[in-house]
Amino acid sequence: MPNEIFYFSGTGNSLALAKSLAGKLGSARLTRIAYTVEAEIVSTAEKVGIIYPVYAFGMPKIVMAFISKLKVAPGAYVFAICNYAGMSGAAMKQTQKALAAKDIKLNAGFGLVMPSNYLPFGGAEPEEKFQKKVSRAESRLEEIAGIVKAGENRSIENPWYFPYFLTALASKSYVKGTVKDVKKFHADDKCISCGLCVKVCPSANVRLVDGKPQWGSNCELCLACLQWCPVHAVQIGRISPDRKRYHHPDIKADEMIYNK
Ligand SMILES: Cc1cc2nc3c(=O)[nH]c(=O)nc-3n(C[C@H](O)[C@H](O)[C@H](O)COP(=O)(O)O)c2cc1C
Repeated sequence: MPNEIFYFSGTGNSLALAKSLAGKLGSARLTRIAYTVEAEIVSTAEKVGIIYPVYAFGMPKIVMAFISKLKVAPGAYVFAICNYAGMSGAAMKQTQKALAAKDIKLNAGFGLVMPSNYLPFGGAEPEEKFQKKVSRAESRLEEIAGIVKAGENRSIENPWYFPYFLTALASKSYVKGTVKDVKKFHADDKCISCGLCVKVCPSANVRLVDGKPQWGSNCELCLACLQWCPVHAVQIGRISPDRKRYHHPDIKADEMIYNK
């Protein structure tokens, strides 16, 4: 198989990018990054891509774990695309370092701005802002597809002004924070016990107890449970009831189901 794209996505932005890039490359196998107990994840593809959302200026925990298990074919061309709402920090540098620790060279690393899904900082962005971000990302993907097809080496897109230690610090507190923030999730009276929050959780961290969701301690903070809830019953602390929910409009909940 020539191309394989691994993606992690909480609210569909990364999946939308992965699908679009696969189309532009001609074909690619799309493989989701989810909680797994496997010791090794092997790709035999000639070109291997990793697409993920930036969390706290770095990579989501699940993507760090994925890279620590990844094995690619000798000579494989490896590229990564992070996407973020406004500030990527040194996420791509972190990816490069994590891959280097596995003796995998990152041939090219890109950063794309996409709509924000981080509800604690505000609800879904206005339509005009959404359209602007998505169409800019789409034309950048066209360019990226050309680079990947040609197998070009590119230096990673990483803001020169953002020191790596800040990403390392923020990442550390994100990892700690997931343990704290997971206690803030709850379902209010609107909950219809449909179980979608259980199914879209990439880390199998939500279960229904007496028809209501309960959260365990293995949270990514991806907000899939909250953003995909069809009746907006999932809340994080006291901040979320009135905020406009977001998930990528071209992605259906069915495509996000990790736990079938
Ligand atoms: C826990 C969390 C942390 C985030 N941290 C950042 C950040 O540091 N910088 C940024 O620009 N966007 C940040 N975002 C926004 C997402 O990176 C962005 O909306 C992304 O496109 C979501 O991708 P997805 O729909 O595939 O999950 C964060 C989102 C979440 C849920």
